[in-house]
Amino acid sequence: MESRVGEGGSVSQDGTRLEALAPQPLLTRDYERHPAVVYEKLRQQHGPVAPVDLLGVPAWLVLGYREALEVLQDDDGWPKGLENWRARSEGRVPADWPLGPSLEVNHVLIQGGPGYRPLRTAWDAALKPFQDPRNPQAKRLKAAVTAYADELITLVGQGGGTGVADLSAQFSRPLPLMVASHLLGFPGSQGDDALMDMWRVLDAVPDADAALDRLLATLAELAAMKLEKPGDDFPSYLLAAHPDLSLDELARELFMLLGMTSDHVGILMSNTVVEVVSGEGAARASLSAGMVRETMNRVVMRKPPLVNFVPRFAARDTPLGNYTIREGDPVWVSSAAAHADPLFAAHMESGTTISTRAHLSWGAGRRQCPARELASTVAAVGVGRLFERFSRLELALPADQLPWRSSPFMRGLRSLPVRYELASVPERPAEADPAPEAEQPVVPDPSTRQRSSLWRYLTGLIRAGR
Ligand code: HEM
Repeated sequence: MESRVGEGGSVSQDGTRLEALAPQPLLTRDYERHPAVVYEKLRQQHGPVAPVDLLGVPAWLVLGYREALEVLQDDDGWPKGLENWRARSEGRVPADWPLGPSLEVNHVLIQGGPGYRPLRTAWDAALKPFQDPRNPQAKRLKAAVTAYADELITLVGQGGGTGVADLSAQFSRPLPLMVASHLLGFPGSQGDDALMDMWRVLDAVPDADAALDRLLATLAELAAMKLEKPGDDFPSYLLAAHPDLSLDELARELFMLLGMTSDHVGILMSNTVVEVVSGEGAARASLSAGMVRETMNRVVMRKPPLVNFVPRFAARDTPLGNYTIREGDPVWVSSAAAHADPLFAAHMESGTTISTRAHLSWGAGRRQCPARELASTVAAVGVGRLFERFSRLELALPADQLPWRSSPFMRGLRSLPVRYELASVPERPAEADPAPEAEQPVVPDPSTRQRSSLWRYLTGLIRAGR
């Protein structure tokens, strides 16, 4: 069978196996700089589903919006779980495959099989107190985000009322890390030192392996502490909802929470700041009308933090796009590419309701993000506070010259250099007033904070930025 696809010519559909298609590497320098161009070339050449090489391992990349939904909404036909991966069972995935470490940690995002359902139910239960705005935990979280944001902004301002800062390193990255520490129920700022290891892991620095070991050990200690003395925090709620979790399993779930919170929420905040300050009149207007969330929704759709999702596997031979995907073949849904699919992009431009409701940035189907409300709240409060405390914020580089960092899964700004001016009197927002039941200290005592390695690192950035 043959089919014409775009202008790139025709592709064979006679059931040629993925391995035999000699797919092109996806993660090239071009991809790092202009992923949209790479996605479009693949779409032209192959249609909505393309074979790609992911650092030496072949996989299918889903570029079509309709096909992405087809996969995401059919968890039985396209289950997660590395045990479903034929090439891996046959020993054809190299032991030193660079993506191995992030996929082989078997937590809720990666897992398939019978263990998944109870785990996901427990996640939903454990997140609920923080996501329902009527709950004291949610109110306390909001007050904490506001207080952390204020701490960070005050630190930036220590060098003077006006100046230059890197809002990624000095605000968008540390803020979610502090929030994660709050969710995890680390006592005081004890978690700060260990949590900085998360950055080392995410940035794949040379000692990332050692950092991962230290981090998992700290999280296992925290898990043991919560088992013995439960608190008002995520680990305690997860354990209550899933008492069968072993401490190792719990530590892996906490690791997952930490990674998602510290990377993706930070990316969303930085992208929202760029959207607002890079001069789009509509964005500024809507922000002043208090609609940070609506702006963020557009941002998360145009620039999804999680650009390619973790793999699913065909449960049986299944036609998808112009190919037949063989049982056990890995399939990566690309939200970034699906949003550029003309079928979806046309709606995005016209600004219809589809632009705000039908995007895939939080996933779709049964396995979509359970923390959407929490992540949006943290990002909205953080960004809102920035625009309250700074009377002027402008990019120190043209928007199209901002440096990006990409991994096979995410895409975000490497740095966000701005020129700022602090408002003369920092106003305390009404929503930061804690409700009576939320009246507990949310910020660690300043002297403990100042001794933490996170704080020393952030203080170093102020001097370096001057
Ligand atoms: C801006 C921030 C975030 C974005 C854009 C985001 C996006 C997503 C997306 C697209 C998925 C689906 C992935 C897939 O189908 O393979 C997902 C799943 C998930 N997210 Fe988020 N997320 C964010 C923040 C968070 C946070 C802060 C947490 C934890 C507190 C979290 C917890 C999870 C979990 C547990 C799953 C797996 C759900 C499952 O497989 O059942 N996410 N997220």
